[in-house]
Amino acid sequence: MRALQNVRLSHAGAAPNLCRTGRALRSARQNPLGAGFGPPIFLAGRGDERRGEAARSTRFAGSAATGRSWRATVKPRRRRLCDNPSVNVRELFPTQVYAASLGGRGAQRLNARLLQEARQLELDDEAGRRWSASNYPGGYTSYGSASRMHRASPTFAELERRLKRHVRAFASALGLDLAGRPLAMTDCWVNLMRRGVVHGLHLHPMSTISGTYYVATPAGAPGIKLEDPRLDRMMAAPPRGRGRRGAGPWVVLPARAGHLVLFESWLRHEVPANAARSPRVSVSFNYSWF
Ligand SMILES: [Fe+2]
Repeated sequence: MRALQNVRLSHAGAAPNLCRTGRALRSARQNPLGAGFGPPIFLAGRGDERRGEAARSTRFAGSAATGRSWRATVKPRRRRLCDNPSVNVRELFPTQVYAASLGGRGAQRLNARLLQEARQLELDDEAGRRWSASNYPGGYTSYGSASRMHRASPTFAELERRLKRHVRAFASALGLDLAGRPLAMTDCWVNLMRRGVVHGLHLHPMSTISGTYYVATPAGAPGIKLEDPRLDRMMAAPPRGRGRRGAGPWVVLPARAGHLVLFESWLRHEVPANAARSPRVSVSFNYSWF
C-alpha cells in the first residue's frame, strides 16, 4: 500500500487514455493500487517524476472494462531546487559553540569545592561586593576584584587544568591556526546570581575564547542567551527557519551544573533573570592567544 501514498484517485468521465509519459502495466498484479482495485492502468516511471511539472500533470486512465471510467493523478514527492546537485548552497562563516560535561574522575568533588570557595569568596571579598553593588545589582561577581582565581586557588587551578582539553578541542573545531602558541587562561572569576539578578548583554574584549563552567544551577536557573552576530546588520529581514535550531536571532543554551560552554569571545551573550530561589553559581573565564 506504500505506493498509494503519492497517488490521488479521482473518478472522471470517459477518458480512454490520458497518459502522456507512462508505460503500460500488463496485469492487475502490477497495478500499484493493488490487485483487483481496478483495471490495468498506466504508470509514470521514476524518471518522469524527476521531470517535475510534466510528471505532475500526468494522469492515468483505466479501461472501460468494468463500465466505470476513472483516472489517477500521480503527485510526485516534492523536491526542493536547493536539493538539486547542480545547485550549490553553502554555509559560510558559521558560529560555533562548544558545550560539554567537564568530566574526569573526582569532578563532583571538585564542583563541591568550587561552590564552597565561591560562597566564601563573596564573604571575604569586600572590594568585590562593592564593585558588584554598582555593576551587578543583587548579585556578586569577583570580575572587578579577584579575576585570576586560577592563580589564587588550587581548586580553580584544577578547574583550569581540566578545561585545557576542552579549549584545545574547540580551537581545533574552529580551525584556529595558533602557530604553535597555546591559548592561555588570562581571567577566571566567580559569578553568583541570586533570584532576579540579570547579567546584561556583553562580549569579552581582547580575548580569543571565553566560556563558563556551571557550579550550581537550581531549577529555574536561566541558560546563556547567545545573540546572532549578524543581527545588527540585518535589514528588512523576515523571520526565518521556523523550528530550525539556531535560525532565530537568539539561542539559549541551558545551564547545567558540571557542564561548560565555550564560544569565541566576540560572540555577544547575556543571562536572563534568575528565576530560581537559590543562587545560580558559575565560573567564567577568558583565554587569549599571545
Ligand atoms: Fe560573559
